[in-house]
Amino acid sequence: MAERFIHILPEQVASQIAAGEVVERPASAVKELVENSLDAGSRSIAVEIERGGLGLISVVDDGCGMGREDAILSVRRHATSKIRGASDLVAIRTLGFRGEALASIASVSHLALKTRRPEDPGGVELLLSGGDIQEERACAIAAGTRIEARDLFFNTPARLKFMKSEAAEKSAVAEVIQRLALANHSISFTLTADGRELLSLTRASNSLERIRQVFGPKLAAAMLPFEASRPGIRVSGFAITSQESFASARMIFAFVNGRWVRDKMLARAIAQAYETTIPRGRHPAVFLFVEIRHEDVDVNVHPMKTEVRFRNPGALFEVVYHALRERLADQTSRRESRPSLSGGSAPAASGSALEPDTAGAAQGASAVAAQSEAPRPPEATAYRPTGDTVDAVDRPLRLVADSPSATFASQRPLNLGYANRPELDSPRERAIPVYSELRILGQVFAGYIALEDEDGILLVDQHAAHERVTFEKLRAEFKNGGIQVQAMLAPVTVELNPARASAVQASLSELHAIGFDVEPFGPATLVLKGVPAVFAAEGGARLLSDMIDGMGESGFRPGRDGAFEDLLKQMACHGSVRVGRALEEREMRELLAQLDRTEFKTNCPHGRPVHIRFARGQIERMFRR
Ligand SMILES: Nc1ncnc2c1ncn2[C@@H]1O[C@H](COP(=O)(O)OP(=O)(O)OP(=O)(O)O)[C@@H](O)[C@H]1O
Ligand SMILES: [Mg+2]
Repeated sequence: MAERFIHILPEQVASQIAAGEVVERPASAVKELVENSLDAGSRSIAVEIERGGLGLISVVDDGCGMGREDAILSVRRHATSKIRGASDLVAIRTLGFRGEALASIASVSHLALKTRRPEDPGGVELLLSGGDIQEERACAIAAGTRIEARDLFFNTPARLKFMKSEAAEKSAVAEVIQRLALANHSISFTLTADGRELLSLTRASNSLERIRQVFGPKLAAAMLPFEASRPGIRVSGFAITSQESFASARMIFAFVNGRWVRDKMLARAIAQAYETTIPRGRHPAVFLFVEIRHEDVDVNVHPMKTEVRFRNPGALFEVVYHALRERLADQTSRRESRPSLSGGSAPAASGSALEPDTAGAAQGASAVAAQSEAPRPPEATAYRPTGDTVDAVDRPLRLVADSPSATFASQRPLNLGYANRPELDSPRERAIPVYSELRILGQVFAGYIALEDEDGILLVDQHAAHERVTFEKLRAEFKNGGIQVQAMLAPVTVELNPARASAVQASLSELHAIGFDVEPFGPATLVLKGVPAVFAAEGGARLLSDMIDGMGESGFRPGRDGAFEDLLKQMACHGSVRVGRALEEREMRELLAQLDRTEFKTNCPHGRPVHIRFARGQIERMFRR
């Protein structure tokens, strides 16, 4: 019974551990305590805070508990059961490994620790103040551990002064719990703040269900599952369709071996995968789970354990990038491959899955349980009189206004910063249409092709559509050996602005690379002999001038990452049919057919939507039918 698992790390091992401030704010103490509960094999974890955690942090788990001697050791520095020697540091399998957290929390609070192992008849309770054990006694407690830290930073007034508002600390705590909950979908979590339940997450059977519990059914319904692996690496997760995007990167979550991390490389892989599918400066929602050999990742880098170092970051980048990229290129099949949480085949019945989202953080659990059975109705979007469909033409996205709506705020107990959550529309609206199979009604405003299906009317932006088609053709050619050039019947001369002529002359090789067969003809003149074959030859000189006009002061800056892609985008934009040009039905048909053969067809290369939809129900509601 008195068997001990915890031991003090030898000094030279302790000194190899990334040291630093472990507990800088209540949220970091909560993170450490909950990670301990997870390491202890708990199935259910209850967190309670008062005054943003400054008054009280309490974490109760049903994990393995500790015997008396271990409990006493656990609050000492460098006391851990998780590693023994320096060699264990190369393959850390637990969330904790330093033996620092409990001691750090104890040293800045009044701490009460109660714990009992399942096999022990009774538990033990320790009371500490500023890190010193004041009292030890036997206690009755369910198997598991309960830790209460009161008056955080009571003995470090300087630290206390740097705390943000209690509300800010509270939402930081909630974010910590969300991340831990997303990484551990099969464990139930509750979070209570000042007596109010903020999160109540029952055990979920997969991470999509957990995402739904945390962020609501609308977000979950817009998620595409993805997965890829190569020896030693497996990545999986959920990525939002390119129809939606966010103003911040806050909805991007990356987990490595169950640990939430901030990682620039992973962030870059995600951002690049979404490049050209969502507008610049916008961000997707992605839940990325990386499983990698423990030997290939170093978590002993940062005192908060939120940064990691990969042995082969390049390989992981590739896997993540391609997994997402391929998924985004093929968004249509998501229904088949998605775990059948909300079922796709059942007939339309209740509209619950798409009711205005009141599930929020707090009521998640019960609402979700009900929703997981509910079939998805084909069309249930409420008409929003804010006119967002009308001006969506020049606004890139369908998002709720960037301020929290009044109803939203009042229904949600805590603003976690997700006030800008997307108002996702009905499944039909999110589904990717097969444009060429829809009936053409005609051209509107000489810029939009009007299409009809049984559920509504679509307007296709002819410029955005053509731009995407052209861009993908150029990009494919560029990858497969170079842009195809079509020789002009008669070469034409192009006069250059003398002030910029030398910069242009210096960029001839870039112009060649993007398909212009040009030669200098005097100091401020070029002769154009061939143009990219994708474009009609008669527009070639004009296109060349446009490209030159768009050139920066230092030429095309070919050294910059992605510069060629930018050039191709520019060229696709300049060379594509403009709004304002009347199209014959034959041309519309051809454009739609080409569009259907194109990857990422629902957005132009700058990320703007290719079509907007007016649902039949929406139109009928406008007529008050
Ligand atoms: N909730 C718990 N249930 C069971 N054992 C626990 C619990 N919390 C802590 N322990 C024990 O106390 C030890 C010390 O915990 P502490 O958090 O200080 O260090 P650690 O988790 O080993 O490393 P780190 O400092 O990286 O978190 C742990 O190694 C574990 O054996
Ligand atoms: Mg720990």
